[in-house]
Amino acid sequence: MQQNETAASHETIVVLDFGSQYSQLITRRVRENQVYCEMLPWDVPAETLAGMNPKGIILSGGPNSVYDPGAPFLADHVLALKVPVLGICYGMQLLASRLGGRVAASADREYGPAVVSIDGCSQLFAGLGTSIDVWMSHGDRIEQLAPGARSLAHTANSPYAAMADEERHLYGLQFHPEVVHTPHGNEIISNFLDICGCRRDWSTGSFIDASITAIKRAVGHGRVVCGVSGGVDSTVVATLVRRAIGSQLTAVFVNNGLLRKNEAEENIARFQKLLGESFTYVDAGERFLDELHGVTDPEQKRKIIGRIFVEVFDQEANRFGNAEFLAQGTLYPDVIESASTGKSAARIKTHHNVGGLPAKMRLKLIEPVKYLFKDEVRRVGIALGLPEDLVYRAPFPGPGLAVRVIGEVTPERLAVLRDADAIVRDEIAAAGLDRDVWQYFAVLTPLHSVGVMGDGRTYANVLAIRAVTSQDAMTADWARLPYELLARMSNRIVNEVSGVNRVVYDITSKPPATIEWE
Ligand code: XMP
Repeated sequence: MQQNETAASHETIVVLDFGSQYSQLITRRVRENQVYCEMLPWDVPAETLAGMNPKGIILSGGPNSVYDPGAPFLADHVLALKVPVLGICYGMQLLASRLGGRVAASADREYGPAVVSIDGCSQLFAGLGTSIDVWMSHGDRIEQLAPGARSLAHTANSPYAAMADEERHLYGLQFHPEVVHTPHGNEIISNFLDICGCRRDWSTGSFIDASITAIKRAVGHGRVVCGVSGGVDSTVVATLVRRAIGSQLTAVFVNNGLLRKNEAEENIARFQKLLGESFTYVDAGERFLDELHGVTDPEQKRKIIGRIFVEVFDQEANRFGNAEFLAQGTLYPDVIESASTGKSAARIKTHHNVGGLPAKMRLKLIEPVKYLFKDEVRRVGIALGLPEDLVYRAPFPGPGLAVRVIGEVTPERLAVLRDADAIVRDEIAAAGLDRDVWQYFAVLTPLHSVGVMGDGRTYANVLAIRAVTSQDAMTADWARLPYELLARMSNRIVNEVSGVNRVVYDITSKPPATIEWE
């Protein structure tokens, strides 16, 4: 779908990103006020911006100084749209200098909490009293306002902590209303949305209706293929597409033989119910396991699995006529990450999932949740009537248990891991911790250790339990599970899973470790 097809039927606020670490947060805050919001780079072409038909524009903060040579600037076409603009921090300084004010380095830099005194009356601060706690993070400040602008607030160090040119609906805040350390920040953002005349029509229900309309329009009488894994993103996408175009959809579930205990059967039953005749299943387990035979290197495992997945998917998709479209569950953070330039991160692992099919498939993409955050996708899933355990399911990697069987992946070793993993999941759920712990699973190590069972010596597998807390999987900490729970898991695993005589708990955070062992 084109950039703004989902947005087209909603009133939209655009955040222009000048590089602040909080830019994405502004987008979230606006959406929390039931107004659709998208972030675009500061130098977005004029036609793209105008095509969004924004009701208002927010200029984010950023690390530069407006007077630095080559610093990101405020393009003429932004103000030419004549919609309300709110500049935050660097965004405010850009507005001020663009309109003829003066910005300079401040002798007293302000970082962290500050108290802002509100001067006089303004719509931006409506309902907020005379002083508020805010979060500041700036080295520059406005020394002189532009003609037509007035000060709305000050701090001990900044004579102009907020400003407005009310005639032109241009506003600026030196502090960050989007962070939680500015307790009344949401009210300020909400006031700005009122200034923009927003009706606040963005909701899960309206998103679903708009997506269905957009998918219908984009696809016409064409055919769509979609990979479904059992996770929330791909299931939400397949359900939306199915509602839009019914049997023109083929949703393919590839069993790679690396799934958890009973997972394939549960997925199949679920998909048959949700997707009816659109659903097709392919059991490629043997092929994956054959090609993984003898392979122990983690990266090689990942590459083999990624390659076979694409081959199998391609084959299946071709069986159902000529599909022109591929639907996939790309999320907003993926879009933002891949759009950001200049960042070069070392490749830690070759990630693979059903949302990452290569462009070489030459299909047009349908990505209905491309502008949603994970929690928003979950809300859409609930509104679509998907089962809660699916909607809140912990992430499960595309390469499945292959990256949790350390060393060679064989049917026997997979069977041991599956049984142990089922106990871990069972016990975490029974303890009511399945929504608090980000991910929890068993890992079959390549180690054997000596034990004693009954009166005999054993020499069997060492199994590790991994459970982590996290916000976004970028960083994680090992979960402080109750000892009693760990004891129960360990006891059950050595008693019920033949081939395991020792259980260890992984107490490493990420970094320096990663969540998965491979
Ligand atoms: P790591 O192990 O790098 O994992 O800390 C971060 C998150 O990503 C998941 N993961 C994957 N997800 N395809 C996926 O869809 C993959 O290839 C893959 N590898 C790791 C991991 O479970 C954790 O949530």
